[in-house]
Amino acid sequence: MRHFVIGATGKVGRHVVSALVERGESVRALVRDPDTAGLPPQVELVPGELPHAAGFANRVSGSDSVFLVWPFLTRRGAEELVQAISGHASRVVYLSAEAASRRPESSWAAVEHAVEHSFDEWTFLRPTGFAANTLMWADQIRRDNAVRWVYGEAARSLIDQRDIADIAVRALTEPGHAGQRHVLTGPEAITQIEQVRAIGTALGRELRWEEIQPDQLRDELTGIPSSALETWASFVHDPEIVTQTVREITDRPARPFAQWAHDHADKFR
Ligand SMILES: NC(=O)c1ccc[n+]([C@@H]2O[C@H](COP(=O)([O-])OP(=O)(O)OC[C@H]3O[C@@H](n4cnc5c(N)ncnc54)[C@H](OP(=O)(O)O)[C@@H]3O)[C@@H](O)[C@H]2O)c1
Repeated sequence: MRHFVIGATGKVGRHVVSALVERGESVRALVRDPDTAGLPPQVELVPGELPHAAGFANRVSGSDSVFLVWPFLTRRGAEELVQAISGHASRVVYLSAEAASRRPESSWAAVEHAVEHSFDEWTFLRPTGFAANTLMWADQIRRDNAVRWVYGEAARSLIDQRDIADIAVRALTEPGHAGQRHVLTGPEAITQIEQVRAIGTALGRELRWEEIQPDQLRDELTGIPSSALETWASFVHDPEIVTQTVREITDRPARPFAQWAHDHADKFR
């Protein structure tokens, strides 16, 4: 089969591309800079820039499926992009978010809506938070052996990007996923304090959690969206959803956060 991958150099897309190549599938990837893409040599690189599909839509032609990442918070241009590529492939797997169902104003909901109306066969991947989000603490951990952050008791079901990619590859290559909205999570919800502890274990040293107030974080980190703070606050009393979708689809449990931390420990060193 032939696949067109958008977001190929991203956290999830890179794993999607390498897993497709390992399976012997043919892959074309949209890249902004072919010289720095660092994708496997078997991949055909298609230079282009979102959201304008005019420059590359014809290169989607002949693909059996498209893996779609919409890397913007805005919904502007999403419908045009989806329409432009839908004429060239019948199946699309869109990397959305678990929050899409609760946030009709979000770009995730807008892209889902456009995809539903433009493609015959679509699958939405709706992950909760990515384990890789904890890399936002890497500088603090390197510098202070500590994380100063808000809502230490907020419990998240962080998912390993490799699990999202595994499901994406199945949805791109196997039958049975059309019309599905797969809510993808890690195997359990663990608090942010526990996440920091797991990173410490992976590093072989003890890390401190320093609880700060939302106003302090706002002062220290201008530009942090208030929706992010509200979401973390809600997980203190109401932990993030946990599903068994990864296990149901792959016949193995989702990777625990501790494993992600172990495999990415160097990024915190
Ligand atoms: N982080 C989370 O907790 C979370 C949770 C649920 C859903 N999501 C969703 O997951 C998606 C992000 O996936 P990801 O983390 O795998 O991606 P990522 O690591 O943020 O990478 C973004 C990808 O999009 C490409 N890209 C960015 N701007 C582009 C442009 N103007 N034209 C062409 N390509 C462009 C990047 O290419 P370059 O290499 O050229 O930059 C890269 O391949 C987002 O839609 C996000 O909302 C995230």
